[in-house]
Amino acid sequence: MLRSIRDKTVKTVGTGILVVAGVEFTTKLPSEGQSSSLYHNVSDKVVTPLVRKILDPEDAHNTAIKFVKEGFAPKFRPNGLEASNSVSLKCVGPKGIVFPSCIGLAAGFDKDGLAIQGLMDLGFGFVEIGSVTPKPQPGNPKPRMFRLIEDVGVINRFGFNSVGVDAVEQNVRKFREKQSGRQIIKKDYDENDALQKAMHVTFDLIKKLWILVFPPISNSEKSLLGINLGKNKISTHETEDYEIGIEKLGKYADYLVINISSPNTPGLRDLQKSEPIRRLLKAAIAKRDQLETQPPLFVKIAPDMSLDQMKDIASAVRECNVDGILVTNTSNQRPDTLISSNSKETGGLSGLPIRDMSTECIRKMYELTDGNVFIVGIGGVGSGHDAYEKLKAGASVVQIYSRMVYEGPGVVSRIRKELCELMAQNGQKSIEDVVGIDHEEIYWTKRLSRLDTARKNEQQIVEM
Ligand SMILES: Cc1cc2nc3c(=O)[nH]c(=O)nc-3n(C[C@H](O)[C@H](O)[C@H](O)COP(=O)(O)O)c2cc1C
Repeated sequence: MLRSIRDKTVKTVGTGILVVAGVEFTTKLPSEGQSSSLYHNVSDKVVTPLVRKILDPEDAHNTAIKFVKEGFAPKFRPNGLEASNSVSLKCVGPKGIVFPSCIGLAAGFDKDGLAIQGLMDLGFGFVEIGSVTPKPQPGNPKPRMFRLIEDVGVINRFGFNSVGVDAVEQNVRKFREKQSGRQIIKKDYDENDALQKAMHVTFDLIKKLWILVFPPISNSEKSLLGINLGKNKISTHETEDYEIGIEKLGKYADYLVINISSPNTPGLRDLQKSEPIRRLLKAAIAKRDQLETQPPLFVKIAPDMSLDQMKDIASAVRECNVDGILVTNTSNQRPDTLISSNSKETGGLSGLPIRDMSTECIRKMYELTDGNVFIVGIGGVGSGHDAYEKLKAGASVVQIYSRMVYEGPGVVSRIRKELCELMAQNGQKSIEDVVGIDHEEIYWTKRLSRLDTARKNEQQIVEM
């Protein structure tokens, strides 16, 4: 009986996979930088909207994480321009970390670090998990995520739901072990339960088949893992909360983020004020410096600040030797242009309605730091053009979140492809050619100084 159920399941799913694989292989257009247009059309125009209709936003999100975790998601394939090295989206960040592509996934999508590898395989050059709080906490009551369909936006008031630093430590340790081929595979089912065993074997077989027909085609260099840290809602020891995160998770991170800008944890944004931010950043840097290897440490800010507040943050970042700024988190503002009935919901607004306001924050921050601080640009990115605008304003890399909710995972390779095309049209071969180009004076000063350094290095080599 069990064997017949298993055989039937394997047959049905196996046939399904082979059909999809057949479609995939026969319609493959590598120059598009996508698995294939049909595959992405099915995934982004049928499956994603259908899931959106049937499931509430949070359930849809959790389902997506489960699928990606198991590897059932489109795999990235470099587009023509990237494959021929005509245009490179690679970016070298602080402390020499290499982002194989400047398009990354923003925090909040995989808060607990459950699906890191699957998300990287979608074509992200970096994936940021979190925000992680020291102790587990449930976050705000549901519903707490709302789609603003007409506005292509999202409002959320999750309030840092997190499994806590210890459980996330286990997840990222497993990810790193698997990455280095050191994973010890434990059986997570009861060997004596025949049904559980049969289901496990079937599922394992499906996964193996899937990987066989859709092998991951990753970036030539490994995608980076960012870990974003938050504080517990009831904690009054903010500095200690972030220090715990740095101490426990720092060794797994390619970069760390101090998040003081989520609007859903009471009092959190007060940490952006002059005195608290200096106290916190100094302590965080000191803690980071005690780690065996020291990942760059960034701070994430809100888009809802006055110019004076931004000036103060820019000077605090430089004073405390913070390695970069993430600009921006979600917004408290409700632009007059919003038409969706969900726009009245409490929480942080993201997606298209905050795209331009976040680009302006990037522009201002780049000016205030004379282009000397690494900026991660976030807010409403949904096309190559959106990413390009943020890079020109001063971001070195960008992240996306909300637009994935609307367009599905194919949005990643589409953004990469469009960005490459824009760069090629404008005669730009590398990300360095684009970053900060809107600020003529700073841009050319930096370019000339880079040329000067390169010339000096060449001279030194010749003299040796
Ligand atoms: C549902 C949801 C949850 C989020 N959770 C976090 C979080 O835990 N930590 C954080 O730093 N940012 C969080 N963010 C903010 C995003 O990382 C990003 O800064 C913001 O959404 C703007 O980008 P987007 O317009 O591309 O979504 C969240 C955003 C959304 C939509």
